[in-house]
Amino acid sequence: MILKATAIAPSNIAFTKYWGFRDGKLYLPNNNTISMNLSACKTKTTVEFSPEFKEDFLKINGEFASEKETKRASAHLDHIRKLAGISLRAKVYSENSFPKGAGIASSASAHAALAVAGAKAAGLNLNERELSCLARLGSGSASRSVPDGFSEWVAADMHENSFAHSLAPPEHWKILDITAIVSEGEKKVGSVDGHRLAATSPLYSARLAHMKEHNDKVRKALLEKDFDLMGKIIEKDSLSLHAVMITSEPSIRYWNSASLKLMNAIESWRAQGIKAYHTFDAGPNPHIITLPEFREEILKRLKEIPEVKSIIVNEPCEGARLINEHLF
Ligand code: DP6
Repeated sequence: MILKATAIAPSNIAFTKYWGFRDGKLYLPNNNTISMNLSACKTKTTVEFSPEFKEDFLKINGEFASEKETKRASAHLDHIRKLAGISLRAKVYSENSFPKGAGIASSASAHAALAVAGAKAAGLNLNERELSCLARLGSGSASRSVPDGFSEWVAADMHENSFAHSLAPPEHWKILDITAIVSEGEKKVGSVDGHRLAATSPLYSARLAHMKEHNDKVRKALLEKDFDLMGKIIEKDSLSLHAVMITSEPSIRYWNSASLKLMNAIESWRAQGIKAYHTFDAGPNPHIITLPEFREEILKRLKEIPEVKSIIVNEPCEGARLINEHLF
């Protein structure tokens, strides 16, 4: 048995979003989603199992993780232990390439890296599909951080059938995700609680009825490199997600005034010929999906907006990988 392994995994931005699950224990979603891996938002994780460890132990960026974070990692490790038929406790060290408090959710990259490193350390030899399912058990969106480039995560009733697969490699299309950080705080309502509330919105069933169409259009536009069609649906899907959030009971509002200001700005830039579309996950920071030729102009304009605290430029990149360089 190997016992110790390290993996690196990117975060991802959903072009069509996951919100609401059919099974909250296995994180089985209600609809397919399509995403792009983010080159500048990665997590590197080393997992070591040992009979000497009395309990699971987690450090993030050199500091002890909170009880909540440690519990979540432990629950994910339990799935790995069960698969491998072991009961050993683990030491987990994790480092993010993006600063903590950058307002970037790290759970997709964190749980994809934990799944890949943890499975190897536990002596399991899983293929990409199995690793994607395993990553999903830690955080739904982590399933999409396992394959390369652009991925589609399939909604299904059974654990083994709900995995993400690559639609295109990173070199297929060098589009950009420019993330404008307008708030560095933690989100008020965690995604897991948000997923549970989705069905309380009267708009949720209308959203689900559109998801197949959104996914079909985004997939086709991605494969045919039709940027305007893809951007239009990405923006529409994000707005529909936030309409559901705002109209759930209780209402969840992830946008702040800076988010609305940026949304308006991006739409007015578009009217001036800058191809850029916005999308928001469960937070206030806009991800601006654009083409490389508009990068400098967008960066210049973002720097003139006082609410923008920092900017992260991402390209599509490969998915989770084992590496030979341990963190301890
Ligand atoms: C709005 O349950 O994967 O980002 O709390 O990070 O584990 P974590 O989130 P998760 O939900 C993500 C929801 C979303 C949309 C998406 O990424 O598809």
